[in-house]
Amino acid sequence: MGSGGREHTLVWKLSQSPKVTDIYTAPGNAGTSFLSQNLEIKADDVDTLVRFALENKIDLTVIGPEGPLAAGIVDAFQAKDLRVFGPNKTAAQIEASKVFSKNLMHKYGIPCANSVNISSYEEAKKYVNNQQMPLVIKADGLAAGKGVVVAETREQALHALSDIMDSRLYGEAGSSVVIEEKMIGKEMSTFSIADAFTSMPMVSACDHKAVYDGNKGPNTGGMGCYSPPYFLTTELSAQVADKIMNPTIQAMIKEDKPYHGVLYGGLMITNEGPKVMEFNARFGDPETQVILPRLKSDLFEIMLAVTDNNLKSIEMEWHEDACVGVVMASGGYPGSFKKELPISGLNDVDNDIMVFHAGTKIDSSGKIVTDGGRVLSVVALGKNLAEARQKVYNNISRIHFEGCHYRRDIALFD
Ligand code: AMP
Ligand code: GLY
Repeated sequence: MGSGGREHTLVWKLSQSPKVTDIYTAPGNAGTSFLSQNLEIKADDVDTLVRFALENKIDLTVIGPEGPLAAGIVDAFQAKDLRVFGPNKTAAQIEASKVFSKNLMHKYGIPCANSVNISSYEEAKKYVNNQQMPLVIKADGLAAGKGVVVAETREQALHALSDIMDSRLYGEAGSSVVIEEKMIGKEMSTFSIADAFTSMPMVSACDHKAVYDGNKGPNTGGMGCYSPPYFLTTELSAQVADKIMNPTIQAMIKEDKPYHGVLYGGLMITNEGPKVMEFNARFGDPETQVILPRLKSDLFEIMLAVTDNNLKSIEMEWHEDACVGVVMASGGYPGSFKKELPISGLNDVDNDIMVFHAGTKIDSSGKIVTDGGRVLSVVALGKNLAEARQKVYNNISRIHFEGCHYRRDIALFD
């Protein structure tokens, strides 16, 4: 379920399993239409999705985006005894409510920024007026990745509070805020998988959020990714697992809110060690596009084991190779952009290049055209990041659509 690059990558990986015969994607994109049957069912149309799964005897449903998870799609499938991969509504609060996740982290001593939760606009203003800057202001609920402001000045912080709590730019998501200290360090996205008893680390990746080279310009949903992070040591991986990911999944069990599925830790690697910026209740996008090509094991078997609470029987194996993915975006993105522009050159890339679709569709004449801000991820594996990066950049200019742009410095580090 879903329509982005993450979902195309999930479909691509699941389609490689010898145990998988048919895949349906709701609603999908042009990329998923080559590997599965796209369904014209929207992500929030839970009743129709459940009915489709029942009528077609779907063995496993995989939920991509956070919105349906937070709305309880997993609960709706489970109520009909349908097998579904992802956390239920209660566990998905770890992403859907920043107040919930900060309370959990503070209670269980999981390293994160010092913070307060405030639900009154007047009190929040008072708090900001009495604190030293910088501060980070976060809307409690889901805000399509836009509810976080790193405020360097008091004016910026007050402006953010006004947008979130007074104007309610993100609706009910802004009825409370988390206000926290700004952390300094390197950002890393890490992933673990969990069933009711066991959790297992997957791998980590780094996302480049700013639209232009050199991390300039406004933030986007992600302009490219690489895995593993160049600064990731065995020691850091162990710290992330032992101090953050495993204790968080254990904490959810202790809270009687067991977490099923992939837990995404958005971390800051500070001088004092790794700390959590946020948790997400799903795979990352565009992280998935560089993580799943590194997975040697059968993803379908892993997901099935999670839904059976039998993850302990699985040994997840990973390729040693590094992976780099560069996003090709529509002209104007992250601002406004044109759609329905024909995409050329998709078949002109080398055989070892993977092109995952995000904002694409097939138009009435059968052509692949653009249909979103982030259009494609061009991805390669290599024996190291430099080799993978080189392969991507040797190929990416063969693909074209009017106005397309991409960063030239993905995986070139800071
Ligand atoms: P989040 O949605 O919480 O991951 O925040 C979005 C972005 O805001 C992150 O990728 C960071 O760049 C930044 N951010 C969030 N929290 C903090 C923090 N406490 N200190 C510094 N930067 C932060
Ligand atoms: N890459 C950011 C996200 O998936 O939330």
